[in-house]
Amino acid sequence: MITVVGATGNVGGPLVRMLAARGAEVTAVSRGEPAGGLRHVRADLAAPESLRPAFEGAEAVFLIVPGAGEGVDGPALVEQARAAGVRRVALLSSLAVTTRPGSGSYAPMRSLERTIAGSGLAWTFLRAGGFASNAYAWAPEVRAHRRITAPFGDVGLPIVDPQDLAEVAAAVLLGDGHDGQAYELTGPEPSTPRSRARDIGDALGEPVRFVEQTPAEAREQMLRFMPAPVADGTLEILGAPTPDEQRISPDVEKILGRAPGAFAGWAARNVAAFR
Ligand SMILES: NC(=O)c1ccc[n+]([C@@H]2O[C@H](COP(=O)([O-])OP(=O)(O)OC[C@H]3O[C@@H](n4cnc5c(N)ncnc54)[C@H](OP(=O)(O)O)[C@@H]3O)[C@@H](O)[C@H]2O)c1
Repeated sequence: MITVVGATGNVGGPLVRMLAARGAEVTAVSRGEPAGGLRHVRADLAAPESLRPAFEGAEAVFLIVPGAGEGVDGPALVEQARAAGVRRVALLSSLAVTTRPGSGSYAPMRSLERTIAGSGLAWTFLRAGGFASNAYAWAPEVRAHRRITAPFGDVGLPIVDPQDLAEVAAAVLLGDGHDGQAYELTGPEPSTPRSRARDIGDALGEPVRFVEQTPAEAREQMLRFMPAPVADGTLEILGAPTPDEQRISPDVEKILGRAPGAFAGWAARNVAAFR
């Protein structure tokens, strides 16, 4: 059995469906009730003992943690997994764990990786770049005004489609040879906020205007739905990416045997959110 914590989100949602379609027994975990017929256990990462019923009988656990893992008690989480007999853990992590070694914003995720790597459990880390699905934050403004207001309009990053992350996760959980591996997962090409506005417009069949926002305006907006260290860490990457953050990683293609999907494909599949 495979337990997926964070099973109703951008990555976990497609992942549990893929695993079930390939014949795996799956337990989906989130705080809220999911739609669909999979076995579901309600649990909260903030209370590690609540995960025990979801870990019992699981051979492998896939972990998606909020933000950069702040508020997650790694040792307690690992203890629950070990006590339940779990043998492998795959963690959805962030590229920034290595590209921003001095940044406190990513310290909780770095510490969670260290705890898992030192736990004696088999582990795999999926270190992802920025997600295409972060563009959902633009959906209300696109629906209302056919406009996107964002900072750093011409800074490109190889953002990754969460569907590809789910496929990589399924390959890792169902296949062999991934223990002790840390994969870097990006998209196939750099994409800028301005080019993403164009792609969403193309998917809609109507132009979407791009309006450049100052970093201070963007920070104020981000603080409404994320803690300050995560907002600051994110803005640093969006505004001044390091060469490692701009690099297109071969890992998605190595694992899936095909190139990762571009942002235009994500926009076309998810255009309903922007109508
Ligand atoms: N966005 C990026 O650019 C980016 C880049 C690199 C890495 N990441 C990593 O990827 C994660 C986001 O993945 P995603 O987009 O698939 O997330 P998402 O769509 O926000 O979904 C989060 C999932 O986790 C569950 N969840 C949230 N808090 C929980 C808690 N305390 N206990 C148990 N379950 C909880 C949610 O359901 P409930 O709310 O019902 O519990 C949902 O199933 C980030 O948090 C980060 O760690 C993101």
